[in-house]
Amino acid sequence: MAVLGRQPTDKAKSLYEPEPAEVVSVEKLTDLENVYALQLASGHPLGHLPGQFVQLALLGIGECPISICSSPTRPNTFELCVRRVGEVTEHIHRLREGDTIGVRGPLGNGFDVHELHGKDILIVAGGLGLAPVRSLIQYILDERARFGQFHLLYGARSPGELLFRNDLTLWRERDDVNFHMTVDRPDEQWRGRSGVVTTLFSEVPRLEPGETQVVIVGPPVMFKFVVLEVLARRIHQRNIFCSLERRMKCGVGKCGHCQANNVYVCLEGPVFRYGELKALREAIE
Ligand SMILES: Cc1cc2nc3c(=O)[nH]c(=O)nc-3n(C[C@H](O)[C@H](O)[C@H](O)COP(=O)(O)OP(=O)(O)OC[C@H]3O[C@@H](n4cnc5c(N)ncnc54)[C@H](O)[C@@H]3O)c2cc1C
Ligand code: FES
Repeated sequence: MAVLGRQPTDKAKSLYEPEPAEVVSVEKLTDLENVYALQLASGHPLGHLPGQFVQLALLGIGECPISICSSPTRPNTFELCVRRVGEVTEHIHRLREGDTIGVRGPLGNGFDVHELHGKDILIVAGGLGLAPVRSLIQYILDERARFGQFHLLYGARSPGELLFRNDLTLWRERDDVNFHMTVDRPDEQWRGRSGVVTTLFSEVPRLEPGETQVVIVGPPVMFKFVVLEVLARRIHQRNIFCSLERRMKCGVGKCGHCQANNVYVCLEGPVFRYGELKALREAIE
């Protein structure tokens, strides 16, 4: 059985002190996204839950929050998928195998996997949303006997923006996951499905409302339409989860940068139930 979360014997650490980690490998996924496998210099596993994030720290440059995209069931290294959008992520993209970077975390709440055990699972991911939820997908596949039916839907804007192509092939080949993907804007080579991710709901058989937990991670516009599909299938609001991205600085509830209404997303999130999100409407619109 997977050991989840920081263990009580872990040395108490300062919330603000980055731990050095070595870049074990770098893989280019698309023109904008790379995946980094990291190992803490201490040799300890990160001890995270699926859905948690870390603050990556570059001395003299800054920090940025990045979701952990690998499962704690694969503890030797942990992986981060980083999209190059600005100064800090540009510097992260210059890292090479053997370089060192600072890591604070794991931070945030993550998915309560124990609540998901024994249930049918539907995961809907859009765009870069596949990164935070990939840790949960790997966890479910590694602990497959603990879950019922597993439906996985993924949408990207174009074929060139599909992430984790090796995983997509593996998931398609497995007969214990009902996996479907689509792109909004196909190119001439694309032989798969086209259309927005909600078109894939035709591939999901009837869901048992009391037995199904749903996880939705993607841009706000996708979230809105996917929730409508899910509610139409009579899934209860408390069984619908999503992961929110707010601007963050400290990641530990001290600076207020991530605050939405009276909630610190870095502490109480980034994973929320749909019911809780109604109070955070400004964060998803
Ligand atoms: C909990 C959490 C998890 C995240 N996980 C990932 C991840 O797995 N992979 C990944 O690539 N990114 C992730 N992000 C977003 C990432 O933190 C930002 O892209 C990064 O901080 C940008 O820093 P920068 O200095 O490179 O760019 P900046 O110069 O700060 O910004 C460049 C551009 O990116 C936009 N931007 C910055 N931060 C965000 C944000 N949080 N959401 C949306 N747009 C933003 C800015 O508006 C601007 O247009 C996550 C954010 C949070 C809060
Ligand atoms: S990021 Fe500082 S309080 Fe949440």
